Amino acid sequence: MSKEQDTSKLWGGRFSEATDAFVQRFTASVSFDRRMATEDIAGSLAHAQMLHTVGILDAAELADIEKGLAQIQQEIDDDSFAWSIELEDVHMNIESRLTALIGATGKKLHTGRSRNDQVATDIRLYLRKSIDIIAAELTRLQRGVIELAQDNNETIMPGFTHLQTAQPVVFGHHLLAWNEMLERDYGRLMDCRARMNQSPLGAAALAGTTYPIDREQTAAALGFDKPTENSLDSVSDRDFAIEFCAFAAQLMTHLSRISEELILWTSAQFNFIVLPDRFCTGSSIMPQKKNPDVPELVRGKVARVNGHLVALLTLMKSQPLAYNKDNQEDKEPLFDTIDTVFDSLRAFADMIPAIQPNTAVMREAALRGFSTATDLADYLVGRGLAFRDAHEVVGKAVAHGVESGKDLAEMTLETLQAFCPQIEADVFDVLTLSGSVAARNHLGGTAPQQVSAAAGRAAARLDAR
Ligand code: ARG
Repeated sequence: MSKEQDTSKLWGGRFSEATDAFVQRFTASVSFDRRMATEDIAGSLAHAQMLHTVGILDAAELADIEKGLAQIQQEIDDDSFAWSIELEDVHMNIESRLTALIGATGKKLHTGRSRNDQVATDIRLYLRKSIDIIAAELTRLQRGVIELAQDNNETIMPGFTHLQTAQPVVFGHHLLAWNEMLERDYGRLMDCRARMNQSPLGAAALAGTTYPIDREQTAAALGFDKPTENSLDSVSDRDFAIEFCAFAAQLMTHLSRISEELILWTSAQFNFIVLPDRFCTGSSIMPQKKNPDVPELVRGKVARVNGHLVALLTLMKSQPLAYNKDNQEDKEPLFDTIDTVFDSLRAFADMIPAIQPNTAVMREAALRGFSTATDLADYLVGRGLAFRDAHEVVGKAVAHGVESGKDLAEMTLETLQAFCPQIEADVFDVLTLSGSVAARNHLGGTAPQQVSAAAGRAAARLDAR
């Protein structure tokens, strides 16, 4: 490959002195926007083909541009492309190399476009590709959650409110609650994708162009649903980046809540689950330690994703139309958000199916803490008491249980009858854990058959994606 690239500025005509060396470094974006090189080349190909269709480039010129861009893609892929900071950004690096490779025809590529619509196109293409990768990883995670739920539709654990034992639930029901959170995140991601998939190419600098361009053609060639409506908005809009980061902040918030539960559950005090060693690390000083580093780190990564969302909102706040150089600051937060979300999803998608529930410990925990107290109250309502009166009776029985160290199911019938004479021997059916969960037998409830059906519906939704 030719080492001598033309480093003279592509906009040099008006200028009488070279850019200050520090300003050059300060304003350059190539160190991070070169990540969009493949999208930049795709955009240039679509643009060049359109220029040929409308008669601005002849067939030979188009062929040269296509050949040159293909070689540049090759150089980038095998890491031999000589990126230059003097050429500021990915767009000018590639255009400059094209001219070095094919000569004067390279200089015609930029006819009827600007870096302003070019960069807007590149980011949308890059983000769309990233959304599709993230959507697949999110689906993989959901698949693992749903399968674990199906396997645990009868595994009883305490359900909590205020982190205090509330009522028994099955582990699968808890897992499907996670899946609902993730399902909404998927919906938000798809909304973002649907709204962003429009082509800004042709907006040029801000006002459109005097050439007879065909924006429908470039939009279709790049897989966009249609061209954007307004040239000013096209080059200034970064809503799609904000929207993606809002999706990401919400998803990461969900992952942090799941992380928190995993961290609690792996503690010696809960001991509800085991995370395989490959997802944990030890301590350099305390030999007994096995730390749930993966969920902890995911919980911590919410910080940077939330930060990126605020950064982008602040970046766009009060910006006058149309393009401003400020917008170059959109890429690093967006790229880091994409990377962080993908890595977090990957870690979770690998880890969740490997969770081993300690079913005996979960069950034992549900037996403690009077988790069937509501069931006893409901039983008394069945015997004719008003719910408030039943609540009072059961409260007294629980107070006795706290004092005597006995769960409701462990008390004798006589003891229970002392609190309420309407209680009969069949009370022990509702005081059992399995009776308690089985009784919540309606859509969205924790009865094993409902959980199994819900897992089936959740899996079918994934299949339909
Ligand atoms: N590197 C610039 C960016 O990231 C590309 C667009 C520059 N446009 C301009 N008129 N300076 O936004």
